[in-house]
Amino acid sequence: MKDSQGKILVTGGAGYLGSILVPELLKNGYEVTVLDNFMFRQNSLMDCCVYDTFSVVRGDCRDENLMAGLVKDNDIIIPLAALVGAPLCNQDITATMSTNLEASRLLARLCSKEQCILYPTTNSGYGIGEKGKFCTEETQLRPISLYGRTKVDAENIFLDRGNAITFRLATVFGTSPRMRIDLLVNDFVYRAVTDKAAVIFEGYFKRNFLHVRDVARVFLHGIEHFERMKDEPYNVGLEDANLSKIELCQAIQKHLPNFTFLEAAVGEDPDKRDYIVSNEKILSTGFKPAFSLDMGIRELIKGFNIVRNSVYTNV
Ligand SMILES: NC(=O)c1ccc[n+]([C@@H]2O[C@H](COP(=O)([O-])OP(=O)(O)OC[C@H]3O[C@@H](n4cnc5c(N)ncnc54)[C@H](O)[C@@H]3O)[C@@H](O)[C@H]2O)c1
Repeated sequence: MKDSQGKILVTGGAGYLGSILVPELLKNGYEVTVLDNFMFRQNSLMDCCVYDTFSVVRGDCRDENLMAGLVKDNDIIIPLAALVGAPLCNQDITATMSTNLEASRLLARLCSKEQCILYPTTNSGYGIGEKGKFCTEETQLRPISLYGRTKVDAENIFLDRGNAITFRLATVFGTSPRMRIDLLVNDFVYRAVTDKAAVIFEGYFKRNFLHVRDVARVFLHGIEHFERMKDEPYNVGLEDANLSKIELCQAIQKHLPNFTFLEAAVGEDPDKRDYIVSNEKILSTGFKPAFSLDMGIRELIKGFNIVRNSVYTNV
């Protein structure tokens, strides 16, 4: 596929995942076009501009004319553009529906049968009422949050269309040029570095985690093995990181012994995430994550010496 079909459109390519994925695609010889509205004023793809094989379009994934022009020029589509996370989605329901769901429907309609789609969804809807059971791809996704519901509905649109792979990603961690500190591991390490303390709720709830560079690696794996992997969803997470929030804090404490955490009786997860995930299916295709949780924590500690929310404080 690499020699004959090397043109990739990445929508939302300037986001947290895209800013790691796009340079990797370019390094691997693909021609990449990014469409992004740069809603966070991020400059994360500046390093890519040196590549002749890189193009960037500032625009909206809901714009049918724009999308039609971009889609027809590419062999592979990676739709990352979305309003991401339950809190952001709850702030603007209309924009969430149009960006996460309607734009996915539009894309599925605009793509020809031959074009390949690789789509990331969230595994956050697993495990409701499944406590203690390993969730496989057969386990029904039943997200409660608007974010989770739009992602799962979009996943179904792409799988129903066919010629698509979907990756049900665990909660991603690690540094990226478009940094997100609202993701659980990143958030806890940020607090550990800056406040040396964190208050946690639902401390025994378990979740599954994955390094942002392994997300880029699994997309490359999916592109390279598309024919044998297509038309299926795959869970992607670290086998040895089905961890509770308390276990996560203990892992951070090993690197930052001065970090203390307390459990609070208040607070809840909008997606009620408490589940353990089996990644057997993706492992059986030959994919193996390369970045551990400990590597990510070490990297994040360094990263948070660079990135600080310091606009309204002198330190
Ligand atoms: N980070 C995770 O833990 C995780 C887990 C599972 C799935 N995902 C999925 O991966 C994708 C990327 O997530 P992320 O963590 O990089 O989030 P992000 O918020 O950093 O990236 C989203 C990108 O989309 C762009 N965007 C938003 N609305 C747009 C629009 N209307 N038109 C064009 N561009 C628009 C933003 O500018 C941003 O660059 C999303 O689809 C998300 O649902 C992420």
